[in-house]
Amino acid sequence: MPYDSTTTKGNYLVIKNEISALIRDKRARVAVIGLGYVGLPLVTEFARAGMKAVGFEVDEKKTAQINDGRSYIGDVESSLVKELIVAGRLSATTDFDNLRDCDAIIICVPTPLRKTKEPDVSFILAAAEEIKKRLRRGQLIVLESTTYPGTTDEVLLPMLEETGLKLNEDFLLAFSPERVDPGNQQFQTHNIPKVVGGVTDDSTFVAAFLYSQIVKDVYSVSSARVAEAAKLLENTFRAVNIGMANEMARLCYALNIDTWEVIRAAATKPFGFMPFYPGPGIGGHCIPLDPHYLSWKARQHGFDSRFIGLAEEVNSRMPEHVVQLVSDGLNDNRKAMKGSRVLLLGVAYKKDIDDVRESPALSIIDRLLSKGCEVKYHDPFVREVRFDDAHAAVTGEPLASIDLTDDEIKRSDCVVIVTDHSQIDYRRVIDLASLVVDTRNAINGDLRKESAARIIRL
Ligand SMILES: NC(=O)c1ccc[n+]([C@@H]2O[C@H](COP(=O)([O-])OP(=O)(O)OC[C@H]3O[C@@H](n4cnc5c(N)ncnc54)[C@H](O)[C@@H]3O)[C@@H](O)[C@H]2O)c1
Repeated sequence: MPYDSTTTKGNYLVIKNEISALIRDKRARVAVIGLGYVGLPLVTEFARAGMKAVGFEVDEKKTAQINDGRSYIGDVESSLVKELIVAGRLSATTDFDNLRDCDAIIICVPTPLRKTKEPDVSFILAAAEEIKKRLRRGQLIVLESTTYPGTTDEVLLPMLEETGLKLNEDFLLAFSPERVDPGNQQFQTHNIPKVVGGVTDDSTFVAAFLYSQIVKDVYSVSSARVAEAAKLLENTFRAVNIGMANEMARLCYALNIDTWEVIRAAATKPFGFMPFYPGPGIGGHCIPLDPHYLSWKARQHGFDSRFIGLAEEVNSRMPEHVVQLVSDGLNDNRKAMKGSRVLLLGVAYKKDIDDVRESPALSIIDRLLSKGCEVKYHDPFVREVRFDDAHAAVTGEPLASIDLTDDEIKRSDCVVIVTDHSQIDYRRVIDLASLVVDTRNAINGDLRKESAARIIRL
């Protein structure tokens, strides 16, 4: 047994042992605040592990769907949600008073950027405010939302201690970054190792014990700050390396060399090289945003993180490069951008998911429209897209996905593959289209050799 349930400290039965006992006996009630791409898979894992799990949401539609046994997240099966609801182990609510009944509370709310690209931790503060109003002795609070190093102990801790309750004596506090990769069939919440860093050793211990109920490998670090920084390193590493691959793609285009073949060849080296691939730009709620959390915090300390700035500059220019490829292809066909019909395949930021947050497709559409192109899109996962005021050329109306008919492909002057969704028949596309810009290497190998269409690849 990893703890001694009789240990006392002063007048207190050590809180670490109280909460650990509840977890060990599966009597701990686990709250997850924010039921999105991260929170919904997490809350179902705790319920699956035999605990009572409650999801807290501000969106009533989401709680109603969950309580009705319906999932709105691709990686979570509705049948599982239904089974757990019927078994009484899972529920969802908008009533934060129920937080009082919970022994562990995990925060999974969004952490966007402000227009100035500074961290917006207002969702974390709102969730923490709800917890603060109901904080009681014997609770473990864990922050999972990606954020800058110091958020847990500089921001959350003082808020929670304003209640008069004391860290370690009354409650525990930790950070544990989420690493979920929506749409990844191989790695999901239960088999992705979890990093845990508490504000105190007891907090680390209990948070690690909690996660060990649902994840095989839990890796404890010495502080919440280390865990916060580790998450930002992971995503900054991706942003920087994708930036390198994108720069290589532009360089290869200028030199008339096939980028994908170059990467494939380099990747045969069994050590010291890890392949990253170019694309139309980075999207989603993590890679385009998280590095800014790190560089912002670095700036507070007078440090200029140059790799982050450079990667963002290269990556954010990719939509412009894609539009240049469209323009080059049309030009070779003696066509102007103005009035040309351009069909985008995919608007989600990556394959086989429905997420369009920060998707480069939005910027590509905006740029094509500003050049006078007629733009349509087809995405089997995204029925319509809405644009914000950052996309100047788009009218206020959302754009709806069209059916991918033979006629639509044939009448397009250019088809642009922005997302390589698996269910698209690329054979049919290249048989019917006259010009294809492929930003994902979707048309590879033999398919390309037999193509009737002219294909321009990144
Ligand atoms: N999506 C990913 O792939 C991913 C991966 C790793 C880490 N993360 C991080 O996890 C966090 C959550 O991301 P996500 O993709 O799940 O976001 P999301 O937008 O899919 O879900 C967040 C949910 O929180 C709800 N919410 C907002 N404020 C709330 C409040 N005060 N109380 C209760 N619910 C509230 C929203 O309605 C929404 O349903 C972010 O910090 C993100 O950076 C995301």
